[in-house]
Amino acid sequence: MKITFRNFRITDAFTDTMGSVTVNGGRIVDVSPESEARPIDGLVFDGGGRLVLTSGFVDMHAHFREPGFSEKETLESASLAAARGGYTSVVCMANTKPPVDNEAAAYSIKRRADTLGLTRLYPAISLTEGMNGKKLSPYLEAEPSAARAYSPPLLSEDGKDVEDDGLFSAALRRAAEGGHTVSCHCDLGGEDAAVDRALRLGAGCRVHIAHVSTKGAAELLRHHKKRDPRTLLTAETTPHHIALTCRDAATSGPETFGKVAPPLRGEEDRLALIEALKDGVIDVIATDHAPHTTEDKLNGAPGFSGLETAFTVCYSTLVKRHNFSPQKLFSLLSAAPARILGLSGHGAIAAGNNADIVILDTECETLIDSAMFASRGKNTLFSGRKLYGAVVLTLCGGRVVYQSPF
Ligand code: NCD
Repeated sequence: MKITFRNFRITDAFTDTMGSVTVNGGRIVDVSPESEARPIDGLVFDGGGRLVLTSGFVDMHAHFREPGFSEKETLESASLAAARGGYTSVVCMANTKPPVDNEAAAYSIKRRADTLGLTRLYPAISLTEGMNGKKLSPYLEAEPSAARAYSPPLLSEDGKDVEDDGLFSAALRRAAEGGHTVSCHCDLGGEDAAVDRALRLGAGCRVHIAHVSTKGAAELLRHHKKRDPRTLLTAETTPHHIALTCRDAATSGPETFGKVAPPLRGEEDRLALIEALKDGVIDVIATDHAPHTTEDKLNGAPGFSGLETAFTVCYSTLVKRHNFSPQKLFSLLSAAPARILGLSGHGAIAAGNNADIVILDTECETLIDSAMFASRGKNTLFSGRKLYGAVVLTLCGGRVVYQSPF
């Protein structure tokens, strides 16, 4: 269906202009500066000169929980949550039951998500068999082949480190041979030591550091990137680590509700992460959407539901409080992750790209209420907070997948 968005502020990592955007057949077919009263056919949305139109967000790190944990989340509830959050591409992690360690399992999750048509889902595949840390995963064991039905944009053992140095290093090398980036969960011996280890063992490989949360880890990344500007090293942090500290964890409801991996840190760490985002040491913001049932949270399961609050939290924290430009924010949420994942046709509002678009109101106040989440996981420390900005509409492949009732 042909849809024209006119009178919008079109802002992505590369442009910031008033204009109109037309989509048709799943693609962006036209981007133009505001035309005088040009006749328009098809459906028309008017942005009133106020609403922002940008490229759909790309999440490098979420837990969709299927197979095995549908009481926490299902592909459908997570995909709806993604659409509500403005996410049109999501990588979901392999720590399911059973873990996703092979191509067939990943592809079957992808096909089910594709049928829902709410977001583009890319299941990550684990580094070791059954995430047991003992043997390479069947995916990495197999010879790289062009005939693969599904080639994941990311491999990851997220949830734990591969403890054996030899095995971790073999996995990183094997992944690099197949052109894969590995997202490294760095916790073994503490985050700083684990990041140092991943940088050492992954030298020359495509290493992505997941959920950076400490000043020390950010400094290691800064040092490494300065020493080797052509490095394949990239990193992410999360909305909760840039907006909250351990003090928030201690004061919000039952103690375990503030539990997340890595834990919320101190103010000095939080500010160091924001500095690292500002100067490109950390490339991406990923949600680490980790939904749990209330019972699991009470029993100490770590994680927050993040897909539906990420934009509002990041906009309020980075643009409103720390003077980031909206363009920089959209680079962190869309262009940079699309580039790292190798998703061509994503991350920018340009003719020929996929019609993955999010419309934002950046002037409104939003009261976060997790009872309204589409996600089954209702746990977030942001519930009850009044923040800035809201997702108004999400378009994935030219189809409206979410429209705000307000
Ligand atoms: C993750 C989960 O629940 O899958 N939780 C989290 O707090 N990030 C796993 C993990 O990283 O421990």
